[in-house]
Amino acid sequence: MTISDQFTETFRQEHREVRDLLFSLINAFTDLDTTRARRVVSAVAAATGPHFRYEEESMYPRLVPIFGAEYVGKLLADHDGAIRNARELAELADLTEIDQPQAERGIELTRQILPHVSDCDGLSIMVETLPEEDVIDILATRDLALEKNLDLLTWAGTVRTRRS
Ligand SMILES: [Fe+2]
Ligand SMILES: [Fe+2]
Repeated sequence: MTISDQFTETFRQEHREVRDLLFSLINAFTDLDTTRARRVVSAVAAATGPHFRYEEESMYPRLVPIFGAEYVGKLLADHDGAIRNARELAELADLTEIDQPQAERGIELTRQILPHVSDCDGLSIMVETLPEEDVIDILATRDLALEKNLDLLTWAGTVRTRRS
């Protein structure tokens, strides 16, 4: 397996995990089950923290020569939006009980994150065209992000320089 195949496989697996967690979150809100929602919101934050981090620290900047700064800016703005939604989702899931409108808000916030999951996964078709050493650096940055293991909201509130 080439390094770029390895990257694509890893990347796809991470997006699958986030996709499935977001689906579970929608189900938890549908069932008005805040205990489950709380657990899933934590799992989403744990999975997306290191993922967003290596994308922003190594992968997205390397896509600027391909797409131009404007589209990469849109990807970063998608991350800002996902972080804001994750914050509100954490507040909702922290409630002991939620009513129907709150559950609907939770579902709306969760669904708003979904398009970035599929858009982001498609980026691997571009990463494939980067020199091998770039892909090696992306994977090394990923290893470091996993080692630091900051959840999304902790990372966004500390290390991340962009304000969301
Ligand atoms: Fe991604
Ligand atoms: Fe992303």
